[in-house]
Amino acid sequence: MTHLGISPNVRASGIHGVGAYRPRRIVPNSDIIDRIHSSDDWIRTRSGITTRRFAEPDETVQMMSVSAARDAIAAAGLEASDIDCVIVATVSHLMQTPAVATTIADELGCSPAAAFDISAACAGFCYALSLASDMVRVGTSEHTLVIGVERLSDITNPDDRSTAFIFADGAGAVVVGPSDTPRIGPVVWGSDGDKAGYITQTRSWDDVFADDELRWPTLHMEGNPVFRWASFEMAKTAREALDRAGVDPTELDVFVPHQANMRITDAMARTLKLPENVAIARDIAEQGNTSAASIPLALERMIADGEAKSGQSALFIAFGAGLVYAAQVVIIP
Ligand SMILES: CC(C)(COP(=O)(O)OP(=O)(O)OC[C@H]1O[C@@H](n2cnc3c(N)ncnc32)[C@H](O)[C@@H]1OP(=O)(O)O)[C@@H](O)C(=O)NCCC(=O)NCCS
Repeated sequence: MTHLGISPNVRASGIHGVGAYRPRRIVPNSDIIDRIHSSDDWIRTRSGITTRRFAEPDETVQMMSVSAARDAIAAAGLEASDIDCVIVATVSHLMQTPAVATTIADELGCSPAAAFDISAACAGFCYALSLASDMVRVGTSEHTLVIGVERLSDITNPDDRSTAFIFADGAGAVVVGPSDTPRIGPVVWGSDGDKAGYITQTRSWDDVFADDELRWPTLHMEGNPVFRWASFEMAKTAREALDRAGVDPTELDVFVPHQANMRITDAMARTLKLPENVAIARDIAEQGNTSAASIPLALERMIADGEAKSGQSALFIAFGAGLVYAAQVVIIP
C-alpha cells in the first residue's frame, strides 16, 4: 500500500534563532497623556508602561519584518534559501491581499518558500509557532520562519483613553526547524467568539465606505473585562501547557507571557505560583503592547540581556482579540 510520500516518522522540532526589530521612535507617556486626559503615574500604575515605540513612515510592516527575520535566520546559522515556509502573524497590515508573507519571503530571498499570513491577534505568534512546529515535525517544512509584526499605531485612536497608551509597534521572528530532542511542547489553544466584542475594530470596511465621512476604523477595547478574563482564565491555560509538557512550575526557568499589561503578567505569575528564580518578561515597560510581536520581542530582549539562557525552559502564553489564546513550553535556543 502506498504511503502517498508521507513519512511514518514524526520528528521533534525546535526554535533555532530569534530576531527583533524595535522602531526608532521612543514615545514616553508624557507624549500621550494630554489627548486622553491621563497621567504618567496612572499609565505606569495601571499598565506598567513607561514608553512605547511608534513606527515612522519607512518602518513598514514589511521593513520591520524583514529586519527581524534577517536576524533570526542569522542567529539560526542559516541562509534565507534554507527557509521553505514563511508565516506572518499580524492584524495591522493594511493591505488585505496579497499576504505580506509573500513579499517578505521574496525580499529576504526565501522564494519559492510557501508564504501566508494568519489573523489571530495577540495570540498570532503562538498560533503560528504551533503550526510551524507541526509542519516541521511531519516533514511538510524543513525550516519555517515565523514572524509576529504590528503597526498598531495605524489603527489606534490617539484620543481613546482605553487603547491609546497601550498599543505599539514592532516585529519579532523565530526560525523553527528539526531538532534531536523535543524543543517545542504541545500547544494548548482555543477561542471564545462570544467575547469577540471585547476587542474589535470599530467598524468594517463596508461601513467605512457607506459613510460619507470615511472615518478610519480603529481598535475598540473593553479593558476591564479583558483584564479579568486574562488574569484568571489564562493562568489555567498556561498551567495546562506546563502539564502537557510535563514541566512543573518549580522546574520552569523563564516565563514569557504576551505583553498586554504588567498587572496581568503579575497576576498570572502569582496564580501559577512561579518560584522567585523564574525570569519573567517585562518588555511591556519600554515596548508597550505590540500584539503578535510581543512574545518574540520580549524573548529576544531576555536572550540579549542574559536573562534567558540556551537550553532553559520557557513558557509562552498569548491571548487577545477574538478572544483567542495559545500557550506552549519551549526550550530557549
Ligand atoms: C485598560 C486598563 C489598563 C484599564 O485599567 P482598569 O483598572 O481596568 O481601569 P478602568 O477602566 O476600570 O477605570 C478605572 C478608572 O480609571 C479611569 N481611566 C480609564 N482610562 C484612563 C486613562 N487612560 N487615564 C486615566 N484614567 C483613566 C476611569 O475613568 C476610572 O475612573 P473612576 O474610578 O473615577 O470611574 C486595563 O483594563 C487593562 O489593561 N485591561 C487589559 C488590556 C489588555 O490586556 N489588552 C490587550 C489584550 S491583547
